[in-house]
Amino acid sequence: MRELRNIVVLTGAGISAESGVATFRGPGGLWEGHRVEDVCTPEALARDPETVHRFYDERRAGLATVEPNAAHHALARLDAEWRGELLIVTQNVDDLHERAGAKRLLHMHGELRSALCANCGGRRHWQGALAPGRDCDACGEAMLRPDIVFFGEIPYHMERIEHALADADLFVSIGTSGAVYPAAGFVQSARRHGADTLELNLEPSGGSIFFAESRMGPAGVLVPEWVEEVLGRP
Ligand code: APR
Repeated sequence: MRELRNIVVLTGAGISAESGVATFRGPGGLWEGHRVEDVCTPEALARDPETVHRFYDERRAGLATVEPNAAHHALARLDAEWRGELLIVTQNVDDLHERAGAKRLLHMHGELRSALCANCGGRRHWQGALAPGRDCDACGEAMLRPDIVFFGEIPYHMERIEHALADADLFVSIGTSGAVYPAAGFVQSARRHGADTLELNLEPSGGSIFFAESRMGPAGVLVPEWVEEVLGRP
């Protein structure tokens, strides 16, 4: 068995589902009640900023009503105790990983708790509603938008993620449907570089065929079990 030093973990909406945060696909998913082209594209923001802001304002407000679950806490424990390299890459825009204590974390699709200036690229922590036309305190322009990677935009931190995948001994995917690239391709990239691959998901996903091992079940059960296993390895 290859020595295990470098781990990359990818999380998706499924890891937050047991906290009460809506996933995107499947029963009750966000894309059941909204059209991506109405709320998650640069064109939608230009055409109807009120609708786009309302969609993200509601999700941002919802963060106050949810808590990290056992899966988030287990990954935070791994972050604190793992002596090798670890990178947790989340597609999620909630702040549950941070609130559980994760540190070695990247948000590749942005964050609800951040506002981005479309004029100067300045970012700032943001809590409340982000009404259209709010001024950027860095450049003074009324160009603040949700710091969310819309469809058609380039995900954040890709160079760092690709380097981590190239060095990974193990790639673990948790709670994602494998429906959206580039995240859906991370397992193939990890395999190409010789990493072992593990999927923890409620049901088979679009990427299950690429994983050396897939475990089906709720993240709140599977993730603590897996972290215990990894930390307990000789
Ligand atoms: N435990 C583990 N997995 C779960 C749980 C759970 N309790 N509940 C749901 N899942 C799984 C579902 O089976 C599904 O495979 O989580 C996955 C959620 O899939 P999606 O809703 O498609 O979310 P995600 O994969 O994160 O979407 C990726 O698509 O719309 C874009 O930018 C958005 O980041 C998002 C990206």
